[in-house]
Amino acid sequence: MDNPLLNKLPIGICLVDENYAITYLNAFFLDRMSLDLRDNAIGRPIGDVFPEQIKFLKRRIKSVFVLKHPSFSYWEQRPHIFPFKSSRPITGEETQMVQNMEIVPHKDPETGKLCACILIQDVTAQASYFKAQAQLAEELKAEHDAQRQLIRKLDRAQAQLIQAEKMASTGQLAAGIAHEINNPMGFITANLNTLEQYANHLLQACETSRQLIDAHTDGELKRTFAEIQQTHHVDLVSEDITPLLEESKDGLKRVREIVSTLRSFAEDTQTGWGLLNLDETAKQLVQLIGVQHKAPTYKVHCEPANLKWYCESTSLKQALTNVLMNAAQSISDKGLVMLSIQQRGPMVHIKILDTGCGIPEKHLNRIFEPFFTTRPEGQGQGLGLSVAYSAIENLKGKMIANSKPGRGTVIEILLPALTEEQAESISTGSASSQQTESL
Ligand SMILES: Nc1ncnc2c1ncn2[C@@H]1O[C@H](COP(=O)(O)OP(=O)(O)O)[C@@H](O)[C@H]1O
Ligand SMILES: [Mg+2]
Repeated sequence: MDNPLLNKLPIGICLVDENYAITYLNAFFLDRMSLDLRDNAIGRPIGDVFPEQIKFLKRRIKSVFVLKHPSFSYWEQRPHIFPFKSSRPITGEETQMVQNMEIVPHKDPETGKLCACILIQDVTAQASYFKAQAQLAEELKAEHDAQRQLIRKLDRAQAQLIQAEKMASTGQLAAGIAHEINNPMGFITANLNTLEQYANHLLQACETSRQLIDAHTDGELKRTFAEIQQTHHVDLVSEDITPLLEESKDGLKRVREIVSTLRSFAEDTQTGWGLLNLDETAKQLVQLIGVQHKAPTYKVHCEPANLKWYCESTSLKQALTNVLMNAAQSISDKGLVMLSIQQRGPMVHIKILDTGCGIPEKHLNRIFEPFFTTRPEGQGQGLGLSVAYSAIENLKGKMIANSKPGRGTVIEILLPALTEEQAESISTGSASSQQTESL
């Protein structure tokens, strides 16, 4: 066994007999042991020489003797088995040696006795390289994640800008149109009132003439008068004229209401924080959307009635408009869109439910992504929900979507009550994460 070549190997070799006594150590081992141990290690139990390692070694040595199979310990599992040092090739810096260990069964060719051969490999350099690589990979991953988050934020910000611009121009346009409609509406209403009076006069004159002719004339004039009345359908006209005028007045009243809602909604330039009447806002919104999408039945429920909430009205209105539009668009024939608002302690819970087409499961986790749309080209930009999501996020709220394809969709919005101080910090972009977590 005393082969000088074994002492030149960069591998530690230690032979142990079945009584756990050391029978051989090569120079790799000996050079790294203290002087007093080095001289009298051979023949001694391995537990005496390496007392701290014995528990770990003994189990493995035993398994090698019993199973006659090698046993392996990889550095990642236990990096420092023997208390050896390793020096770096260039700097000479000493560190604790990182080791791979293999214990193999070995039959002594001279005595024929079975022993366990402990082989130690110094993998300090590989381990430190591996660790550096792993750290680098982790750093890269963190950077990658941060970039992905940034891209998501940028996407959202871009979406928000596009929509804000669209809303602003739509708002201006709507306000302008509302104003323009109001002018002709003024003289149509006035003329209709005059027309009603004229019609009443004419009807009265007709009726009085008929009564006079009936009472004071004989057959000829009476017949001619009756013929004239018949030719001009005077009876029918007299009967129809009042309901026609009433219907027109009703129609005008509705146009006036829509225009005034549109105006108050579009011209609402209150962009800062303040108390918003959620009940009224919900009703206005539903009325406006109902003009465009007539198929669904709309219901609004607010508890308590006239609930006022401290928030940034433009963001909230925008979010609600976008969600309600989707709900209305999801119903092509008959169906229900319900907007319910409920105060629950320090939170307001807004639920927008529709009995429309629903969202397939594979789309459900994508609907808040900017530019995700299933609408035909030119009919949707895919910005509605992503903008709504950021708007609610800005208000420190949460937005959750649930849907059953073919049955309908529910979008829930949870808003916390914020103090003026918190609102201030949101406006200046320094909101603390605690507020979000409080949800
Ligand atoms: N209430 C809903 N019912 C069915 N599908 C919906 C509903 N709300 C959203 N969606 C789906 O989510 C997609 C994204 O919505 P949105 O961001 O508003 O963009 P857009 O309406 O422009 O497509 C829609 O294209 C639609 O497929
Ligand atoms: Mg939409």
